[in-house]
Amino acid sequence: MVREWDPRTASSAEVASLLDTLNAVLTVDLPQDPPWQGHSVREYLSEVMPGERRISWVAQGDPAPDGTPGPIVGHVHVLLLGGIGVLEVVVHPAARRRGLGRELVRVAARRVWDEGFQSIGVEVVGDTPAVGFYESLGFTRDYVETRSVLDLRTVDWPALTEMAAGVDAGYRVEFWPGGPPDELLEPYARAKAEVREVDDGELRPSSYDPERLRDSLDTLHRRGMKPYIVLAVHEQTGEVAGLTEVVVPAQHPTRADQYDTIVVREHRGHGIDRAIKARMLLELRSAEPDLAEVQTWNAQANEAMLKVNAELGYRPDRDWCEYGVDVAELVHRLDSHR
Ligand SMILES: CC(C)(COP(=O)(O)OP(=O)(O)OC[C@H]1O[C@@H](n2cnc3c(N)ncnc32)[C@H](O)[C@@H]1OP(=O)(O)O)[C@@H](O)C(=O)NCCC(=O)NCCS
Repeated sequence: MVREWDPRTASSAEVASLLDTLNAVLTVDLPQDPPWQGHSVREYLSEVMPGERRISWVAQGDPAPDGTPGPIVGHVHVLLLGGIGVLEVVVHPAARRRGLGRELVRVAARRVWDEGFQSIGVEVVGDTPAVGFYESLGFTRDYVETRSVLDLRTVDWPALTEMAAGVDAGYRVEFWPGGPPDELLEPYARAKAEVREVDDGELRPSSYDPERLRDSLDTLHRRGMKPYIVLAVHEQTGEVAGLTEVVVPAQHPTRADQYDTIVVREHRGHGIDRAIKARMLLELRSAEPDLAEVQTWNAQANEAMLKVNAELGYRPDRDWCEYGVDVAELVHRLDSHR
């Protein structure tokens, strides 16, 4: 049975059952990834940025003979932002290939359509059943990145200490656990708004302004995800010349996520990328003693960044793809399949 589900008011038993399903999915699809712990799962599923909405549904198995509610065997949520609905679907490995995934997408796509949105995007992990699933539903691949993972046990810490000090004179490197202080939000947002080049020559402007940045940091905190920031400040102007962001999620605190790393164009060639990433790892080592790995995502043609990551010890793990579909086409396809 598929029904709309609100993680804010759901029972703890339901949240725990969904967590079991998520972990069963990880075990078969991404066996090297750490299982999720039970911390801040409800917050992770319910908190959103101002102006965004997340709508969720669950598929629940039949109740046991003694009346105990059945387990949550499938889940879909769609995040409505800008003009797009971003979809996430999971089906317990024991309940797959019976049309449940398709049914969950159908229910979510219908709502996205009713809400007036035109396209749906989804992140698809390479080499998992999700690839065949979304392609069977008519989704097409828009973009591919490589996920790489750094095992902190393999890091050459003395070499890293040298890298962290290897920035040219005129720049100051600063560590800000929790996020940058208010007075740095403006220059930080300016650095983030810098237009970045991606592999296919397309230009992807980042939408950050100081207020949006503050909202996004607050949202991370509310979702149980702790941001750490290292900045390179250009001393003469006070501008943020480079930044790198790592988030340690309460849900899997042994593996952190590397978010953006940006070196502003006019400050490139001064060793900033290497220095800020190295400083971040050194700081994390003491701030998060349980941390074992950091994962990062890069465009395959971003050779400069891939080179620095390889020097730091990151090993490519697998493809991470973005797929998209036109909502009208998807709704039509799924309705005619019933
Ligand atoms: C992708 C997923 C949702 C599919 O769920 P499902 O209930 O098995 O999907 P369905 O039974 O509705 O399949 C619909 C169609 O998709 C395609 N499909 C599904 N699984 C497939 C697979 N392993 N290989 C190829 N095609 C597949 C088939 O065309 C299938 O139709 P068919 O069974 O009639 O041939 C499920 O495998 C899953 O939860 N994967 C993990 C998703 C995820 O996001 N993980 C993130 C961490 S890894």
